[in-house]
Amino acid sequence: MRRLDQLLANLGYCSRREARAWIDGGRVTVDGVPAGDPGQKAAPASVRADGEPLDHPAGLLLLFHKPVGLVCSHGDREGPNVYSALPERWRQRNPPVTSIGRLDKDTSGLLLLTDRSVLVHRLTSPKHKVPKVYRATVDRDLSPDLVPSFASGALLLAGETVPCAPATLTLLSAREAELTLTEGRFHQVRRMFSAGGASVLALHRTRFGELDLGDLPAGQWRELPLDLFG
Ligand code: URA
Repeated sequence: MRRLDQLLANLGYCSRREARAWIDGGRVTVDGVPAGDPGQKAAPASVRADGEPLDHPAGLLLLFHKPVGLVCSHGDREGPNVYSALPERWRQRNPPVTSIGRLDKDTSGLLLLTDRSVLVHRLTSPKHKVPKVYRATVDRDLSPDLVPSFASGALLLAGETVPCAPATLTLLSAREAELTLTEGRFHQVRRMFSAGGASVLALHRTRFGELDLGDLPAGQWRELPLDLFG
């Protein structure tokens, strides 16, 4: 049971102060009966706003196809962010919708978004070793020597003392490769190729664990069940 004003505010409908106007205006019902008081407690499933069931009261988990050019941080100082692609109401939710890990502004591909912090912690924890697959295009021909080097568990990134966990590199063409990582260090793919003497020109994440983008267009999302990861 939750207070109506809190519920409406947390789900992004209005501020807690504005909830009174929603309720006084007859826009909110509990079990079909117009609510009378912002402090009234109700089970989310029994509440309707403007005649509609509440918008994802249990939380959101989205598979987003991030286009190049959007940042994963919440501010807008570094340019438009991935949240700007979502409906306004979802952008007003509290806890806020946030990304599970990050992709660079110049990276496209599969990004999970959620307002369930437990999922963020679970899926970004190095303990869980979720495999993430990237497709990279680089500025020079790739040496086959990179395959054992990335797989060795001994590759050191500039400025770091702990080597990268073993990673699987598959060469797709002279300047294109697929890389599977189980960790998510800052700019890791770009820095691994840089350690191998190549600069990444384009980077796209195709998979996260068992999930792939399918034919989802850039800038679009699809909803995933909240219990997908147990
Ligand atoms: N590694 C990178 O270098 N950039 C990303 O966006 C993701 C992984």
